[in-house]
Amino acid sequence: MLNKRVCIVGLGYVGLPLLCLSMEKGYETYGLDISNERVELINNGISPIKDKFLEERLKKLKDVEATTDSSVLKKSDIIIICVPTPIDAQYNPNLKPLQSAAKTVSKELKKGDLIVVESTVFPGTTEEIIKPILEESGLKAGKDFYLAYCPERVDPGNKKWNVNNLPRVVGALSSEGLKQAADFYGSITSSDVLELNSVKAAEATKIMENTFRDINIAFVNEMAKSFDMMGIDITEVIKGASTKPFAFMPHWPGCGVGGHCIKVDPYYLISKAKENGFTHRFLNLAREINNSMPHYTVNKVIEGLNEIDKSVKDTKITVLGLAYKGGVDDIRESPALEIIDELKKLGADLNIFDPYIPEKSTVKDLNEALNADCIVIATDHPEFKSIKPVELKEKGIKVVIDGKNCLDKKGIVSFGIVYKGIGR
Ligand SMILES: NC(=O)c1ccc[n+]([C@@H]2O[C@H](COP(=O)([O-])OP(=O)(O)OC[C@H]3O[C@@H](n4cnc5c(N)ncnc54)[C@H](O)[C@@H]3O)[C@@H](O)[C@H]2O)c1
Repeated sequence: MLNKRVCIVGLGYVGLPLLCLSMEKGYETYGLDISNERVELINNGISPIKDKFLEERLKKLKDVEATTDSSVLKKSDIIIICVPTPIDAQYNPNLKPLQSAAKTVSKELKKGDLIVVESTVFPGTTEEIIKPILEESGLKAGKDFYLAYCPERVDPGNKKWNVNNLPRVVGALSSEGLKQAADFYGSITSSDVLELNSVKAAEATKIMENTFRDINIAFVNEMAKSFDMMGIDITEVIKGASTKPFAFMPHWPGCGVGGHCIKVDPYYLISKAKENGFTHRFLNLAREINNSMPHYTVNKVIEGLNEIDKSVKDTKITVLGLAYKGGVDDIRESPALEIIDELKKLGADLNIFDPYIPEKSTVKDLNEALNADCIVIATDHPEFKSIKPVELKEKGIKVVIDGKNCLDKKGIVSFGIVYKGIGR
């Protein structure tokens, strides 16, 4: 296997760690991207993504070969596509980046190549959309080249599970393709590789995993809204339910779901199922509930300010966090953006602070950020979780909206500060 040369197409959150891993495992590996800026950074050992693990790995690796020149595909035997699969404004899948990457690969395709799609897609994409593009080369899938799907499960910022040790599942168009893909992934991961009987099953696996998460988060968000009306703290209830040693799995409510996966992937399945005559009521409802959370959070700001006889208009409010989750600098689909937008429309005297994204912050540090009447926690960055109630008191904060239920409610309330969490 090690004599094979690998090319990773798309060097982002998924592709870049894979490039590092493939190199570390001894494969001659190239990276292909359309961004000159990204390629230059990577070739200089600098990670375009703020992630300690990735930054350290890239620094250690010598001679990383990233390029925007697609002729590098000619030198490669295993080509892995990790480009974005976003949705448009109407929540429809946007496969343009994936189709464009497949066209690029098609132009350089050779007999014997193994093409693996890692981008998250709806079931059928690899066979119905990618295969015909690759076959424009004149080569036949399953006969002249091999085509497989292997979803990525990387969770940026997760200290335990990463590209090195996550189990993989693969599906391929032919048994030889399946064997080659499973052999490759088996040679780079320290975990298991499960071979599935079809490409569609592998594609559906990823969508099911992320939809499972979206639905469970929607469930706790709904419980949070309900319990809030009854004066029950949902965090206590989840702690209580978590003592059940089987069947219950804790998920936590919050100001909204973000990121390139959970907020996007369900729409891929919803859209494909609709094409096949099936309506995903449950998935649509989960999306609707989770999409309602930024607005719910803004309503909490209004309620909190009402309690001190203020309105949002002209009140000094700081939104803490832009990233969609703690410890990362990724703002894709972040609920913070919607919260900010809505507060601006209501006329707030707004500041924004995210220590991971200083270029988009309006103040330079947390100390300055806390010069406000009201703070809204939109991201559970460690820097925010460690804010002490006494600091809030000293800063004269009057209202705390804890969109991540991560602050010391009791301590904050004991200082006479209005506290509102999500179902807490
Ligand atoms: N971010 C995650 O945590 C995660 C986890 C699992 C799966 N995924 C899936 O993996 C895929 C990639 O996501 P990501 O977060 O790494 O995206 P990303 O935006 O971080 O990176 C994608 C990269 O692809 C490049 N690119 C775009 N079009 C290209 C083309 N035609 N040719 C070559 N390069 C191109 C971009 O310049 C960018 O560098 C998506 O389908 C996503 O749903 C993401």
